[in-house]
Amino acid sequence: MDKKVNQEILDKLTKVCICNAISRSKIKNAIKEGASTVEEINKVTGSGSCGCKGKRCSHKIEQLLKYYGKDNL
Ligand code: FES
Repeated sequence: MDKKVNQEILDKLTKVCICNAISRSKIKNAIKEGASTVEEINKVTGSGSCGCKGKRCSHKIEQLLKYYGKDNL
């Protein structure tokens, strides 16, 4: 398997929001489709809306926004 396929599999398996089982791939797709803040991503994906109310996932989403935001996807 090539590196891109491995990354896609890892993105699907890695849960960013554990409370709602939201994968990194869903977060990356939301960023790709224009979400540019944690609140926008939460609204689109359902992350941050349950259990810990985003205490565990907000900082991970911020990191993904910094890394994959705008032109980096
Ligand atoms: S980990 Fe996202 S709401 Fe708890």
